[in-house]
Amino acid sequence: MADQSKETTDFGFRTVAKEEKKDMVAEVFHSVAAKYDLMNDLMSFGIHRIWKRFTIEASGVRRGHKVLDLAGGTGDLAAKFSRIVGEKGQVVLADINDSMLKVGREKLRDIGIVGNVSYVQANAEELPFPDNYFDCITIAFGLRNVTDKEKALRSMCRVLKPGGRLLVLEFSKPVLAPLSKIYDAYSFHVLPRIGQMVVKDADSYRYLTESIRMHPDQETLKGIMEEAGFDQVSYSNMTGGVVALHKGFKF
Ligand SMILES: C[S@@+](CC[C@H](N)C(=O)[O-])C[C@H]1O[C@@H](n2cnc3c(N)ncnc32)[C@H](O)[C@@H]1O
Repeated sequence: MADQSKETTDFGFRTVAKEEKKDMVAEVFHSVAAKYDLMNDLMSFGIHRIWKRFTIEASGVRRGHKVLDLAGGTGDLAAKFSRIVGEKGQVVLADINDSMLKVGREKLRDIGIVGNVSYVQANAEELPFPDNYFDCITIAFGLRNVTDKEKALRSMCRVLKPGGRLLVLEFSKPVLAPLSKIYDAYSFHVLPRIGQMVVKDADSYRYLTESIRMHPDQETLKGIMEEAGFDQVSYSNMTGGVVALHKGFKF
């Protein structure tokens, strides 16, 4: 008899067939792409910019480096890396979703970023890059949406240079009980309403909230990264653990 647990996964609070999740996630991001940046600012009161700045500071990226901004969407991190790595460096903004990539490419072009950024449509589980290629990989608010997180992390480890680092910026588990209650009320009741008002799509923002709850907590994700081949894995909580930045190295 087939092992059912191997063939299903979570999509928010729902259990779905593994092969279905990719298309369901794709639908979410096709639907929200045009208003993704506006929604990010509205939902986080602009705080996502601070989380991303912290990520850039933790990246150790320098002039001439090769950086992969995976699940890079509308390119906030890629834009910043492009300025740091300069002409001799290279930034690849990779995402599975062509609507998100299109918004990202147009945004970066509009702010004058051309030349050292390339755009690749790719699934994090099967990265189409050579072994030992990138100095740094970031995946911001992306890993949660990937069907097979372990496979994706192994793929990231493969394309990272020895000595390179991976940064996973993701929603996590709040560490303070009172904050947790306010956060729950906000995310289950307010976010879908904002989604309905701005994007006419409450369901995608319900998925966002549910997928955050289903994502591994700080310690579990640390273990998964170690299992996938990363060394010296550590994490920093931000905003009381609402978000965590995990860092790991390939040696
Ligand atoms: C919440 S957005 C994050 C975008 C951007 N990194 C940011 O921080 O604003 C999540 C992104 O992950 C992408 N994504 C989901 N599953 C993916 C996969 N398997 N491989 C690559 N990208 C994926 C989505 O298309 C979407 O653009």
